[in-house]
Amino acid sequence: MKKNKYLIEIEEFDSINELSAEDQHLLNQAIAASENAYAPYSNYHVGAALRLDDGKIILGNNQENVAYPSGLCAERVAFFHANSNYPGKAIEAVAITAKSKTFVIQKPVTPCGSCRQVMAETENIQKRKIRVLMMGEKGSVFVSESVESLLPLMFQAEELKIK
Ligand code: THU
Repeated sequence: MKKNKYLIEIEEFDSINELSAEDQHLLNQAIAASENAYAPYSNYHVGAALRLDDGKIILGNNQENVAYPSGLCAERVAFFHANSNYPGKAIEAVAITAKSKTFVIQKPVTPCGSCRQVMAETENIQKRKIRVLMMGEKGSVFVSESVESLLPLMFQAEELKIK
């Protein structure tokens, strides 16, 4: 038996002001996207903003439902919209943030496992890394250079793909 360690690397910025103007803009777009979330059950309003390789920005937010599992996270709303409406356009970066009606989010909002899996599939298909920007209402900003590094040992079954 041997033990393996898998390291992930995250950049941490004390404030949004330390980021490039492009990244700041995308994070601000994610804040704007969170305003349109439909989250009456959790009161946790998530916004995601994607930047395509032609500069176009796609927004998404969480859409909840009284039948709880029928709802969808902000990141998947945005990725599925981009993939269905702009097929073939690579996604360069995604910014994620949230606002709660019941408490102040002091730490960066990091995507759930299902969203990481969906974002990783897009990253694999486009063969280009997606920069992931994560921010709360307060505190620092996390940046990952790729989705892959947020999902070590992700499920990849090449044999499931039609040849
Ligand atoms: N949520 C997202 O939109 N993105 C995530 O990555 C995690 C959670 C949403 C789902 C639900 O509407 C609310 O946040 C609380 O879990």
